[in-house]
Amino acid sequence: MNRPVRKAVFPVGGLGTRFLPATKAMPKEMLPVVDKPLIQYAVEEAQAAGIEEFIFVTGRGKSAIENHFDRSVELEALLAEKAKGDVLKELLGSVPEPGQVSYTRQMDPLGLGHAVWCARYLVGDEPFAVLLADDLIKADTSCLKQMVDAQAETGGNMIALMDVPHDHTSRYGIIAPGTVNGRLTEVTGLVEKPKPAEAPSTQAVVGRYILQPEVFKHLAGQQKGAGGEIQLTDALARMIGGAPFHGYRFEGTRFDCGDKVGFFEANLAFALEREDLRDGVIAFIKKLGL
Ligand code: G1P
Repeated sequence: MNRPVRKAVFPVGGLGTRFLPATKAMPKEMLPVVDKPLIQYAVEEAQAAGIEEFIFVTGRGKSAIENHFDRSVELEALLAEKAKGDVLKELLGSVPEPGQVSYTRQMDPLGLGHAVWCARYLVGDEPFAVLLADDLIKADTSCLKQMVDAQAETGGNMIALMDVPHDHTSRYGIIAPGTVNGRLTEVTGLVEKPKPAEAPSTQAVVGRYILQPEVFKHLAGQQKGAGGEIQLTDALARMIGGAPFHGYRFEGTRFDCGDKVGFFEANLAFALEREDLRDGVIAFIKKLGL
């Protein structure tokens, strides 16, 4: 039987060196796009997909994330006192219910595969989602919801897929594609960050995964791969041929918020969608006269 996806893992242990000095004392996942931290977008995407348990794999210096998904009694009292009921309501609405959130520490930054493996006891023996907050996906229907619905039909493992320029393959996990059926592509091979000449295609893995718990067996005792890190992609590659494995070409736009240009693009795109900001932003762009 195809079991429902109830849990999501958020690997948030990364150091965020690309955004120093902003990330010296603040987790990169707390960087705001307009006025919301990246990690909150990811959690809301998961909530919209019906996820009930949120598992954060953290590292040192990440306590701001725990505080973010908690009540803030002083702030709530202040907002109530100042009659800012609408802000208060929004703030409370963004906090998952008591007991829905759990945290485990990665301890050593050994790679994405290792981070996911650290969540094995919290996930247990059921399928789960993984969301990388750096990949911000703007979509009418939450990207993970699209995938959960598709995976309910296919079963097995699923990754989000996107076409990338040929000279960018070394930034991503790249699939070898099999049969295509609408938004679904069968995955027949997977390599982490191949050079363009060695890439099996230009179809890249975006940071959304639905995985079967068997992945933990493949991650246990795993050798280091690309970049000297324990790679999730390598464990997934070993699962091909077992359960069904599909790439899902999602509807929406993905912003690479691990990259400065991508991060600015996301800010612009999200600001332009906001009624309270749109006119001001457009006026400024026009003034620049680029
Ligand atoms: C990770 C994964 C990679 C994937 C990418 C998507 O890489 O290892 O397979 O394509 O996320 O953003 P990272 O960006 O953490 O180097």
